[in-house]
Amino acid sequence: MFTWRPEMSVGHPDIDRDHRHLVELLNAFEGAAGREPSQAVLHDTLLKLQDYAIDHFGREEAIQREAGYPFLVEHKHEHDALVERLTDFAKTYFISRRRPVDRAVLTEFAAFLREWFVVHTMGADLRMKGWVGVKPAERVSPSPPAAPAARRGGR
Ligand SMILES: [Fe+2]
Repeated sequence: MFTWRPEMSVGHPDIDRDHRHLVELLNAFEGAAGREPSQAVLHDTLLKLQDYAIDHFGREEAIQREAGYPFLVEHKHEHDALVERLTDFAKTYFISRRRPVDRAVLTEFAAFLREWFVVHTMGADLRMKGWVGVKPAERVSPSPPAAPAARRGGR
């Protein structure tokens, strides 16, 4: 279980509100992963998280687009990669049931999600602080995002 912290604030009330709710849904999934309720309950908890993440990412990207945020493309890549992970996980363990779902798989995925959220919120999301929700004349240019590991070193 973890909590939203003020240092995660990007300074935009809609985004901060969404992030707080995402933390609740992440905690709900992590809690369910530890309790191992029925497959249906687990899948439902995961779907709620997935649906909300997709809605939230869309809202956040719209805010960035509207503000002419310079790193929207890179930011959207991070969002899309997470949605893909969530979708793959749901497909593998709850839809095709190609692999059996057990506590180890669930707690590992819950830990991955939490880590992703903290790294993304404290990294990519905080980079838009000073740009979104700020009058154009008062904007502070964000630092560029780090290149993804795969692209580092060229070729
Ligand atoms: Fe984001």
